[in-house]
Amino acid sequence: MRVTMIGAGYVGLVSGACFADFGHQVTCIDKDTAKIASLNRGEIPIFEPGLAELVESNVRQARLEFAAEASQIGEADAVFIAVGTPSRRGDGHADLSFVYQSVRDIAPLLGSAAVVITKSTVPVGTGDEIENILRDNRPNTDIQVVSNPEFLREGAAIQDFKHPDRIVVGSDDDRARKVLADLYRPLYLNTSPIIYVDRRTAELIKYASNAFLATKITFINEIADLCEQVGADVQEVARGMGLDNRIGGKFLHAGPGFGGSCFPKDTSALIKTAHDHGVPLRLVETVSAVNEQRKRAMARKVVQALGGSVRGKTVAVLGLSNRILTTPAIRRQFR
Ligand SMILES: NC(=O)c1ccc[n+]([C@@H]2O[C@H](COP(=O)([O-])OP(=O)(O)OC[C@H]3O[C@@H](n4cnc5c(N)ncnc54)[C@H](O)[C@@H]3O)[C@@H](O)[C@H]2O)c1
Repeated sequence: MRVTMIGAGYVGLVSGACFADFGHQVTCIDKDTAKIASLNRGEIPIFEPGLAELVESNVRQARLEFAAEASQIGEADAVFIAVGTPSRRGDGHADLSFVYQSVRDIAPLLGSAAVVITKSTVPVGTGDEIENILRDNRPNTDIQVVSNPEFLREGAAIQDFKHPDRIVVGSDDDRARKVLADLYRPLYLNTSPIIYVDRRTAELIKYASNAFLATKITFINEIADLCEQVGADVQEVARGMGLDNRIGGKFLHAGPGFGGSCFPKDTSALIKTAHDHGVPLRLVETVSAVNEQRKRAMARKVVQALGGSVRGKTVAVLGLSNRILTTPAIRRQFR
């Protein structure tokens, strides 16, 4: 199949390379011309195990290419939107300006039976808005809009993409479902289940999943505080809990609070969506507030451990994300 990926960031690049590896013909488009130029020189802008080899081999076999302009998009059977959805400044809502701009960019160029698929994490109802933009620009076409949220983890992205726990496809349209089934065929032949739901349900599955994992982390963090006071070992508590199959051991590691590129912005966007619909999610609101307090409490612990002041002290930070360390300026500072 002919696939276009709009956005060659973490998700776009990994998904594009993996779809090419399944045998599809993939073009990754990014408006960041410097990123496209470096990809075309064979440089990978992020550190992700196995990605450089996967990109190199699929480029060599002419199944994967990179471009700054979506000129050949008219021939694509499937067009994925994989642009960023950061937190909007001020109110914590998801900033959808990159998503809507990319849809306006591609609308005049799409084939009349293209399937447009959001891989970006977008609030429930975004697919309807994308459909409106496409209808306004392209009346009398059969372009379908599908939600196909991505669950990969940075650092294990290829493994997660190629062996997902599930593939979620949000669409009521038979033709669109068939296109997604064909795209992912190598995976469900290997027993990864595909679940077909309506578009709004798919959009919400992604946020509900991330909010649940953030809740699990926050839960064990609060238990860790209690362990410290009562002389119990939180690692053993987590192990004892996690061996119960109903609970599971993953995301039960106490630490300095959750961060990264997704959980903070996604919990915040979910809280806002729920408020807008008059259904406040008090549990998720508390998780977010507890996590904020925890980061501050961690900083106070560091200050305390250094005798009450960090002025003039050298502090080593372990566990910086690979995304941060691939930014050259930051790499220099942390050398
Ligand atoms: N990073 C993850 O682990 C992860 C996992 C699952 C889901 N997601 C979601 O996937 C989406 C993308 O995340 P990411 O981490 O890949 O972001 P990213 O910032 O790494 O990449 C986004 C890319 O989109 C490009 N872009 C923006 N507007 C564009 C346009 N109009 N045309 C072409 N390119 C454009 C940017 O230049 C950038 O390269 C987000 O919604 C995120 O929440 C991310």
